[in-house]
Amino acid sequence: MAFFTKKDIKAAPEFESLPTHLGIIMDGNGRWAKKRGLPRSAGHKAGANVFRTISDECANLGIKYVTFYAFSTENWKRPKEEVDALMALFKDYLLEAKADMVKAGNNKIKFIGEREGINSELLKLMDEAEEETAAHTGTTVYLAVNYGSRQEIVSAVNSLIKEGKTEINEEDISNNLYTYPECDLIIRPSGEQRISNFLLWQAAYSEFWYSDVLWPDFTKRDLYRALKDFENRNRRFGA
Ligand code: FPP
Repeated sequence: MAFFTKKDIKAAPEFESLPTHLGIIMDGNGRWAKKRGLPRSAGHKAGANVFRTISDECANLGIKYVTFYAFSTENWKRPKEEVDALMALFKDYLLEAKADMVKAGNNKIKFIGEREGINSELLKLMDEAEEETAAHTGTTVYLAVNYGSRQEIVSAVNSLIKEGKTEINEEDISNNLYTYPECDLIIRPSGEQRISNFLLWQAAYSEFWYSDVLWPDFTKRDLYRALKDFENRNRRFGA
């Protein structure tokens, strides 16, 4: 298996195969801020900029779906000022996208997660971003906000019960999730090696790639390293 160090990769390399669906757990913002004596919100702000760079690069590379874990159902337990700062970052991003749809490119923006708990102003911006980018044909950027994968599965099963089903199969569940595509690769920076209730169903055969880099320090080169590593994985899907 090829091993790529940061030094080896300067520009986007050629990829023989890319994940169709990439999942990214944006972790380490708090530690990044703490190391600099800054409030956690500063780490999230830096993380939001990295989100912009990396989502743009996924689109440049032609990755079809990329899901960013931005706010979990458990994150409401964080101090109010941190939650407010995160909601303000989502709003800023959506206002930017709304003001400059050309710059938003051909990407589709979609949200996955529960709507309950999110303020109406943000919900409206989320709906508008989805509607205005619905016809785009490029990368689908899923933002997981107020997302929990167990909750997603329970809600899929509840929809099926409402439809009157008394027996279900895997396809039924897949078709009722927020995001159907199987996840091929999950990237988690910051040294943690957990899935944290992210895409549990979709990641049944996902490859994992971890790095010690904190999310605000994550660069395009780190993305390339993960993708090059993925290219060399021998995926057997249980066979
Ligand atoms: C986990 O790191 C990260 C989060 C809970 C928030 C992630 C959100 C962003 C990067 C902002 C995204 C913005 C847009 C516009 C999509 P942590 O804060 O738990 O880090 P720690 O483990 O070091 O404390």
